[in-house]
Amino acid sequence: MQENLPILEDLDTARLPHSECEGRSSVYLETYGCQMNVSDSEIVASVLRTAGFGLTHDPLQADVILINTCAIRENAEQRVRRRLEFFRARKRKHQPDLRIGVLGCMAERLRHKLLEQERLVDIVVGPDAYRDLPRLLRHVEKTGQSSVNVELSREETYADIAPVRYDSNGISAFVSIMRGCDNMCAFCVVPFTRGRERSRNAGTIVRECQDLFNAGYREVTLLGQNVNSYRDGPVDFATLVYRVSLLSSELRIRYSTSHPKDCSEALLEVHRERSNVCNFIHLPVQHGNSDVLGRMRRGYSSDEYRALIERARRICPGISLSTDIITGFCGETEAEHQDTLSLMADIEYDHAFMFMYSERPDTYAARKYDDDVPEHTKKRRLNEIIKLQNSISLKKNKEEVGFVRTVLVEGPSRRSETQFCGRTDTNKMVVFDRGSLQAGMYAQVRITGCTSATLFGDVVTL
Ligand code: SAH
Ligand code: SF4
Ligand code: F3S
Repeated sequence: MQENLPILEDLDTARLPHSECEGRSSVYLETYGCQMNVSDSEIVASVLRTAGFGLTHDPLQADVILINTCAIRENAEQRVRRRLEFFRARKRKHQPDLRIGVLGCMAERLRHKLLEQERLVDIVVGPDAYRDLPRLLRHVEKTGQSSVNVELSREETYADIAPVRYDSNGISAFVSIMRGCDNMCAFCVVPFTRGRERSRNAGTIVRECQDLFNAGYREVTLLGQNVNSYRDGPVDFATLVYRVSLLSSELRIRYSTSHPKDCSEALLEVHRERSNVCNFIHLPVQHGNSDVLGRMRRGYSSDEYRALIERARRICPGISLSTDIITGFCGETEAEHQDTLSLMADIEYDHAFMFMYSERPDTYAARKYDDDVPEHTKKRRLNEIIKLQNSISLKKNKEEVGFVRTVLVEGPSRRSETQFCGRTDTNKMVVFDRGSLQAGMYAQVRITGCTSATLFGDVVTL
């Protein structure tokens, strides 16, 4: 690795024929996992760029490959492993100087294995150590020895680092507002991989959102594992959302993830009062049975969750809801599984992310319970909840047909150049003819049809 490399303008420039990287060391960054990881990769890109590293979108052009990893489920880790093996084979056959690094949530737990036992990688860096990346990369380059920093911090929020939004559509951006998680849900590895909860200074968040708006962005998603426990002195999460919403009525605000146990009435009031705070909440329930929720250590019962949904719908009529569900958790009986189906049928979520339980080492569930639901039962139950949710999503989308909705135009749709896509404030994706629209504009779209995942519509000229 050469020191003091010229700084590339941004990662997008590397999408061109990579002339900027020719003859220079360059870093390729690949991201797995949740939105927090996407946001972290933007911080990593910024740290590297500021330190003078080149960045490329093409792994074949890279001298350093960094994989930002996820450990949430076994199959997430397996995907990353396969990718690491692929790059290691490449290194052995064609590019002995290639350096391979693991960032993020797998770093903590697997560093010994990845570095020493399997010799899969040269660099391992945990989520709180990204400022140290340039030093670690140079150390590997100079000494040929592996380097590691997986220390977790109680303070690090990267508040002063301006993310490089290298994969952004220029309209919608993630803004990280807190890190870590103290909740210790029985199934979850995140508190182990990301450490203690800490909130970022509110002033820097509001400033970042203002800068994004000035740069043409029209939507921010405030990110944390449990945004409801955000606190910076007197500023709680509801106050923070309110403050960001005052920046411009043209800037939409979303957030993720909101934990049901402390989703406040004040926050729901902010949704009602501020038209640019989107009429949508992701409120992961995980399960429909209170005993299972107790075993999961989620901190609420099924009835308390249902009461929260009622409150949200009373305060914010028409609010759209999504959720996460885990099926086949330790000891889950057929009757308990039926309670998840009943809860879904009663609540009628607009959307759901559904998973089979995957035991994670060191978690409370791994230490105390047996992972005793057979794989084929987990699969069957998962298929049942997916089938139910698809029919509910389709029904909800059909109810949209005939209405005119305000859509924030994001850009070309995946299917066709002549069509654009964008989302309603209830987070539904709409596809429509491009006409004279530009990304970043708000369009009035009459919904004419749908699938369970997408709405189709015609732009209404006012
Ligand atoms: N902080 C968020 C969740 C982040 S993880 C919250 O509390 O809601 C995203 C989702 O992955 C979780 O909501 C859960 O549904 C799922 N998940 C987490 N650990 C899991 C595990 N061990 N097996 C299967 N799914 C899991
Ligand atoms: Fe995991 Fe629970 Fe924290 Fe969410 S709130 S990240 S599920 S421990
Ligand atoms: Fe995965 Fe870490 Fe996010 S485990 S889901 S990348 S917080």
